[in-house]
Amino acid sequence: MNSTRRVTLIRGDGIGPEITDAVVRIFDAARVPIEWEEAAAGLACYHEHGTPLPQATLDSILRNRVALKGPTTTPVGEGFKSVNVTIRKALDLFANVRPTKSLPGIVTRFGNVDIIVVRENIEDTYGAIEHRQTPDVVQTLRIITRQGSTLVHRYAFEMARQLGRRRVTCVHKANIHKHSDGLFLECFRAVASEYPDIVADDLIVDNACMQLVVRPETFDVLVLPNLFGDIVSDLCAGLVGGLGVAPGGNIGRHHAVFEAVHGSAPDIAGKGIANPTALLLSALQMLDHLGMSDYARRIEQALYATLKADIRTRDVGGTATTQQFTDAIVARLDDSPHQTQPKHRSTITVGEPPPPTSSAIWSLVGADVFVEWNDLDRLPAMPEQVGPLALRMMSNRGTKVYPPPVPPITMVNWYRCRYLAESPIATADVHALLEELERHGIRWMQVELLCTDGETPMFSKAQGE
Ligand code: NAI
Repeated sequence: MNSTRRVTLIRGDGIGPEITDAVVRIFDAARVPIEWEEAAAGLACYHEHGTPLPQATLDSILRNRVALKGPTTTPVGEGFKSVNVTIRKALDLFANVRPTKSLPGIVTRFGNVDIIVVRENIEDTYGAIEHRQTPDVVQTLRIITRQGSTLVHRYAFEMARQLGRRRVTCVHKANIHKHSDGLFLECFRAVASEYPDIVADDLIVDNACMQLVVRPETFDVLVLPNLFGDIVSDLCAGLVGGLGVAPGGNIGRHHAVFEAVHGSAPDIAGKGIANPTALLLSALQMLDHLGMSDYARRIEQALYATLKADIRTRDVGGTATTQQFTDAIVARLDDSPHQTQPKHRSTITVGEPPPPTSSAIWSLVGADVFVEWNDLDRLPAMPEQVGPLALRMMSNRGTKVYPPPVPPITMVNWYRCRYLAESPIATADVHALLEELERHGIRWMQVELLCTDGETPMFSKAQGE
């Protein structure tokens, strides 16, 4: 027997209350041993309590470790941050897991899709570390770490093994982002070597997108950095019928929050026509996570039987209301066979992230100094030599413009000036360089130290360098 589990339930905004009602009804009818602890979040909560995410809600998830969340509205211009992003960061939910499976009765171009997208959920450009470096030039930092990458890869392989999946594909852009996606891929290969029973391969993201829309049935588990994962998982949702049927789970080492991919759908809120399938499938994913897969399969069978009987909501070509669709699932629960021996799956554990790797053996050999220069008819008047540091290269938007020739490119008022020394230097040499630039009246706004590990540079070359 499964023992009763307490789970935090956030009904959310818009269609949230309607679709969470549907899931709660189906779970009650299936006698799932879950006790809901209701907690508030979202726009309505903001209007009532003055905050979109009260501490009591976070405390509830911290206590129960698992939550089912309806969609919440993020108002444009009203100033509070997305509740989802805040929860993800506060609970360190490092993996976003989105199963994409063809459903009976939902007509799409493809009949046999069964892909699980595992997306890194914290890093990449989602740190929102952005700087306006000149009035014309903005920089977003794309952060990829050994720790974040290893955790998400380990989750993908552990999950694949537990679900009997055969292949995990790392999707990346390491041909261009040699260091960032290169590290993501390096960590993938290291983790993959511990799972000889699972086929591990990799694909460049553009090629992956093309293949996904041509032959999606050939894919199994995909693991991606955050931004590519965001885009590719929506592409996958489109393969099987769209937002109304796309579930997801945000997984951390200690906590997990399950929610549909879609938002609060204000255009249909209160009309009783929302499709509860995506949230229901998210809730079934939650049951698998909790080791209650026997209940998940039983409800899944009732859902499939309902869809096969052509009972569907409007978004997927039917006429049923949320209530009629929910009634139909509940009615078919009794038709589903009970498993006498529940299959009790343990939850997936990924262990600790790898410890930090020290840069103590690296040698400092130079600096990239980013400067503003507004006279686009001539290159910045940078000093050629300052102490041990010699000006080796300048680039504009990543293309080498010095030493000559200057290619016929559109220039902007933002140059990277690469200074390198013949042998290792001290940071004091870089300070002296910056002081010299200031004496020349040159405005610098960013400095990156250039290091080598033995002979290997820990930085990229410019296009054409
Ligand atoms: P949305 O996903 O709410 O709606 C897009 C379209 O899909 C709408 O036409 C809607 O009617 C339809 N749709 C979505 N879910 C449906 C369902 N279950 N059944 C039938 N039709 C459905 O995206 P939108 O309009 O861009 O965002 C609305 C609000 O939701 C925004 O405030 C946004 O910030 C928020 N949002 C919240 C999310 C979350 O809490 N996880 C995720 C995405 C958006």
